Amino acid sequence: MLRVADLNAWYGHSHILQGVGLEVGRGEIVTLIGRNGAGKTTTLKSIMGLVGRRTGSVQFDGAEILAEPAHRRFHRGLAYVPEERRIVPGLTVEENLRLGIIAAGNRAREAAMIERIAETFPRLKQRLKQDAITMSGGEQQMLAIARALMAEPKMILLDEPSEGIMPILVDEMFEQFRRMRDAGTTILLVEQNVELALALSSRVYVMDQGVVVHHGTAAAMLADSELRDRYCSV
Ligand SMILES: Nc1ncnc2c1ncn2[C@@H]1O[C@H](COP(=O)(O)OP(=O)(O)O)[C@@H](O)[C@H]1O
Ligand SMILES: [Mg+2]
Repeated sequence: MLRVADLNAWYGHSHILQGVGLEVGRGEIVTLIGRNGAGKTTTLKSIMGLVGRRTGSVQFDGAEILAEPAHRRFHRGLAYVPEERRIVPGLTVEENLRLGIIAAGNRAREAAMIERIAETFPRLKQRLKQDAITMSGGEQQMLAIARALMAEPKMILLDEPSEGIMPILVDEMFEQFRRMRDAGTTILLVEQNVELALALSSRVYVMDQGVVVHHGTAAAMLADSELRDRYCSV
């Protein structure tokens, strides 16, 4: 579904990504970990087309998209939920969800989509008419993820979705990821909550200083405490 090869990216004169390679198969959950500043966010932004200068190859669903603007990638079915949540204040939960629909204007279809999303996110269902900004951080993150799903993406890039969120909501959120995967959405997950992420993932990549320093199956990393100590202690 996604194949990244020899990806380089720059912020100004800083050469941040130095030949990143990774693959995510259709229907897979793959986790990307690494200490702060390793280049995880820059990798997701580059895949989404949000970093100014980049070279290499990003293939999505069979097409080379490295040179495409972010909106083209979005229309191809690639969604991105950034680290910093982008809830629109002053809009209700339902209005925020409507912002995620690609083909707006078809009222019946919009209503059906909202209903479907509300069924999968019960926490949002109870709050559809509430101003989104009055919700907790975790609920806002759920909303950001639900909004991305309104576009019915083939693949979603999630940047540290559980950061700063109450443990009970984190469990709920990971259960949500499982359901998304089971419904056919491919997921690339950047996560500090390594054990939970590994338990859900098939494979894992570890980044350091702009390169991938390890990759393997999640099961192998879960089973090998030495490996975890080497790569997962932040
Ligand atoms: N907008 C930016 N301008 C310049 N340097 C940046 C910018 N964003 C990130 N960096 C630098 O790029 C490197 C990788 O950052 P990032 O991809 O955010 O890492 P991670 O998500 O793994 O913590 C870091 O050294 C960071 O300081
Ligand atoms: Mg980051």
